[in-house]
Amino acid sequence: MAQLTSSRSAQWSSRWMFIFAATASAVGLGNIWKFPYITGENGGSAFVLVYLLCITLIGLPILISEVLIGRRGGRNPIDSTRIVALESHRSRHWQLLGALGLITSFFLLSYYALIAGWAGHYTFGSLLGMFKGLNAQQIDETFEQFLADPLQLIFWQSLFMLITFLVVSRGIKAGLEKTIRVLVPGLFLILVLLVGYSMTLPGFLPAMDFLFKPDFKTLTSQSVLVALGHAFFTLSIATASMLIYGAYLSKEASIGRTTVAIAILDTLTALLAGIAIFPLVFSYGLEPGQGPTLVFKTLPIAFANMPGGHIIGGLFFLLIVLAALGSAISMIEPLVSWLMQRGSFKRISATALSCFSVWFVGLGSVLSFNVWKHITIISNWTIYQTIDNLVSIILLPLGGFLLAFFAGWIMTQSATHDELNMKYNWIYYLWRFLIRFITPIGVFIITYRLIADLVS
Ligand code: PHE
Repeated sequence: MAQLTSSRSAQWSSRWMFIFAATASAVGLGNIWKFPYITGENGGSAFVLVYLLCITLIGLPILISEVLIGRRGGRNPIDSTRIVALESHRSRHWQLLGALGLITSFFLLSYYALIAGWAGHYTFGSLLGMFKGLNAQQIDETFEQFLADPLQLIFWQSLFMLITFLVVSRGIKAGLEKTIRVLVPGLFLILVLLVGYSMTLPGFLPAMDFLFKPDFKTLTSQSVLVALGHAFFTLSIATASMLIYGAYLSKEASIGRTTVAIAILDTLTALLAGIAIFPLVFSYGLEPGQGPTLVFKTLPIAFANMPGGHIIGGLFFLLIVLAALGSAISMIEPLVSWLMQRGSFKRISATALSCFSVWFVGLGSVLSFNVWKHITIISNWTIYQTIDNLVSIILLPLGGFLLAFFAGWIMTQSATHDELNMKYNWIYYLWRFLIRFITPIGVFIITYRLIADLVS
């Protein structure tokens, strides 16, 4: 144990690097693909308001806890959770919490890479003028034909995993930091360009009303649950990503301030993505409540009809790919660090093994859109739906609940107080109150409702 605590992992070169890396993790498909469509489905502004509350009251306290546990342990997620539990004289079996995170990110990445691959295909397709002159029905068919072709899907999924491998295998400084340094500014630049473009469209004002003028009539209890669940996903909580990124954070950095910066940047990107997308939707008379296909079936209709749409569309899909890459790196790193520290693997072989296994499991999801379309696992879910539901309905909420419980009830107050080292004590006590009472109850309610809805 002494030997374990003394060998801390390597570190980010600065506090800002951690903020960048964690932001790159947090900003992903969730912000650019999912946030706009769930906002569309749930009626807009009032939903946005509830989402912001969920981020502040539930998401942020858990994010703080996860980074806190990671930094305190200073190692891979499994070792870290064990070290921290032992320090508070609790069972070493709490290391299962770290293991749960590893399993969650493994399965999450297996289908995340698939969707990122779709965006990769659409980036090239747009730039090459694939949508030019097509009508809505043809665009719909293009997407369906793409999904029906396993070889194309495998090609794009594999390419995305290969890029992830190339980045992560180079290590923290030469791989992660170097990539993230270009990726985060690139991401914001593209987003600002797209927002600038959308501001010139006639649908801009209706879109702003839709996003920001609260209309509580549109809000249902189901929407509140969706907002809560998404607050979780978008901050990359409960996948061990923040445990490992926290482990790489220097002891001097303030966890409170850095995590608030991450939550703000993450929320800002989601809102900017909404501001970029909805003016297109309203200007071209499209349906905001389209669901998951909003980005792949609806937006291309606008790109097909606007002057220079191939460039705007290309940039938009590139934005999705870059965002997904920053997230993918953070999903694989926990597993890689564990294989290196406990399995004595070299980084390159640990990364190869992790990426290959994720890729292989991901094939199940790929094929469930075509050749295995009719194979169902639980009730009438395909492999992809089963893994997606397993992650979002069971693993993520369970992980979040346990993290809150661990930081609030298992770790001693002196350990959390010492590690957070907040400037104002009242902020510490506010965090502790939220994490002990409000957060676990919130998470419990979502999980219960999600499962009850499924069973009924
Ligand atoms: N936060 C990412 C998104 O919004 C998803 C993610 C979850 C990334 C867990 C890493 C770990 O898309």
